[in-house]
Amino acid sequence: MSGVVALLADPGVPTCHEAGARPEVLCHLNAAVAGLEDASPDLCRLGAAFAVIASMVPWSKRPHVGPDAERFAAGHANAIIMGPRGAEVRDDIVLGVSLMAPHIRYPDHSHPPDELYLVLSEGEWRQGDGTWMRPGIGGTVRNPPGAVHAMRAGARPLLAVWALRPAFAG
Ligand SMILES: [Fe+2]
Repeated sequence: MSGVVALLADPGVPTCHEAGARPEVLCHLNAAVAGLEDASPDLCRLGAAFAVIASMVPWSKRPHVGPDAERFAAGHANAIIMGPRGAEVRDDIVLGVSLMAPHIRYPDHSHPPDELYLVLSEGEWRQGDGTWMRPGIGGTVRNPPGAVHAMRAGARPLLAVWALRPAFAG
């Protein structure tokens, strides 16, 4: 985590993106942020700050095929705050937010960069075929490079900040 914080001290280039379609799942953002009311003041401020910029950052959806593809597409979206295609353009880190509707499961996936989640809601994470874990609000999850992982929302929306550190960033 300290490596991510150190990187962010050096700001990238703010960029205006053409407004894309508003993801359907944004209707769950207020409920997700409201779930932080009893969290620490820092997490509360983080949620409120993200709610302010949510309509200004580019959102994307993970391509997914399968019987639940349509439901998954409508029930999740990822905001890219920093990164090569982020609101702040930089290539040393990708910082984003995932929002998922209740009872949506993010598919198993893996990627070369190290990944760190800061959990801002209830929800479950797992690696490989391991058991589902509940980090809780304020918890963190680290996925080592190449590790298969997934997350899923329960009865409440899932909200999490994540950072991917490309290997070339050093
Ligand atoms: Fe991931």
